[in-house]
Amino acid sequence: MILPIYTYGTRVLKAKAKPVKKVDAEVIKLIVDMFDTMHAASGIGLAANQVGKLQRVIVIDISDVENDKDAPVRDGIPVFKSHPPIALINPEVAASERAWSIEEGCLSIPGVRDVVERGEKITVRYKDTNFRDVELEADGLLARVILHEIDHLDGVLFLDHLAPEKRKEHKVELKKIQKGEIDVDYPVVTATAARVTSD
Ligand code: CO
Repeated sequence: MILPIYTYGTRVLKAKAKPVKKVDAEVIKLIVDMFDTMHAASGIGLAANQVGKLQRVIVIDISDVENDKDAPVRDGIPVFKSHPPIALINPEVAASERAWSIEEGCLSIPGVRDVVERGEKITVRYKDTNFRDVELEADGLLARVILHEIDHLDGVLFLDHLAPEKRKEHKVELKKIQKGEIDVDYPVVTATAARVTSD
């Protein structure tokens, strides 16, 4: 089931999500719905906050990134390695190194992109859908998406990493999003009202 995505200015994006205590049918349904929602919006990552649920769950799918015609290429080789889709429950960053800067966007902040510095190589610990402990070493785009999504669980947006004067450059666009003036082809909940809009 495709869920509406909460956009910039909604309170749930600023809230801290709570740890999942066990994986039950409700959590599985949330994960399935989050994959559906992310794919319908052509996203590569989604956090539960973005569908209005304050649970520490994120989904990521960068499996198609090497086929993306817009993906950066260096010497004919895609810079971004693909990875099978994953769901991470209660993810925590255990280590992060080699800072790098690339441009990010967010399904909750449509039309706004900017360069953010984060770790390039990380170790993340999380529970899988069987609630087993997993330790994953990730680098490149996968690390980037994991860090962006974990931020969401803590109520942090990529905009919060920008210097104040850089953030100011997006002021007009952000105001529009807050007012619900959004042109996207996926359902959203905007800050102006608990209003669901879709084309
Ligand atoms: Co985001």
